[in-house]
Amino acid sequence: MTATPTKAELRRQLRARRGALTRRQQARAAAELAHRLTATRAFRASRRIACYLPNDGEIDPRPLIERIWTLGKDCYLPVLSHTPHEHLWFARVMPDTPLTLNTYGIPEPRIAGEWLRARQLDLILLPLVGFDLAGNRLGMGAGFYDRCLEYLRLRRVWKKPRVVGLAHDCQRVAQLPVNDWDIALDAVVTDRAVYSMAGEANK
Ligand SMILES: Nc1ncnc2c1ncn2[C@@H]1O[C@H](COP(=O)(O)OP(=O)(O)OP(=O)(O)O)[C@@H](O)[C@H]1O
Ligand SMILES: [Mg+2]
Repeated sequence: MTATPTKAELRRQLRARRGALTRRQQARAAAELAHRLTATRAFRASRRIACYLPNDGEIDPRPLIERIWTLGKDCYLPVLSHTPHEHLWFARVMPDTPLTLNTYGIPEPRIAGEWLRARQLDLILLPLVGFDLAGNRLGMGAGFYDRCLEYLRLRRVWKKPRVVGLAHDCQRVAQLPVNDWDIALDAVVTDRAVYSMAGEANK
């Protein structure tokens, strides 16, 4: 019998996998991702869309951010808040919004302006280290997204925002270990495919 890998083991393996992609493969994947994502109904129907800036080999959503601006939609980036507890806010960004590095070395728009909570967004596009076809997500291990989307666990009907993971296709695994606090994804879009989870019509 083979032991199920732990989250920590899977994180190591999957980060190494995406870390091995060349710059050229990363650039091609980013273009493919933008192409697939912008064709989804979830994207077309959304006005307030949260994205992220790529870190640690994550698929690069910047071509997608350009499309959000071109289409006149509103783009938000996460801002980490550590007090009174670890939390994520979403700040609106324009092409000329200044960014500063957060505690993880990731640029964020930590300036006065429009800051929203997750529930005020239409669509949240989030990075991940691994995913499976049940919609389970493995993140970097800090639990930020799980905490800010915790309220969705109690929701059955009115679910907002749509939660869609962005990934390289090589980050898909057969089955992820899941904890009670993990928030499942409605869909995952990669450089190769759109995976809509049960009950979702994102295409
Ligand atoms: N709703 C919550 N309330 C309090 N703590 C939480 C909550 N959700 C997750 N955590 C904590 O966050 C830690 C990391 O969780 P997990 O391993 O699922 O991270 P992750 O999903 O990989 O990270 P992230 O969501 O930041 O990408 C866990 O130890 C857990 O205790
Ligand atoms: Mg989690």
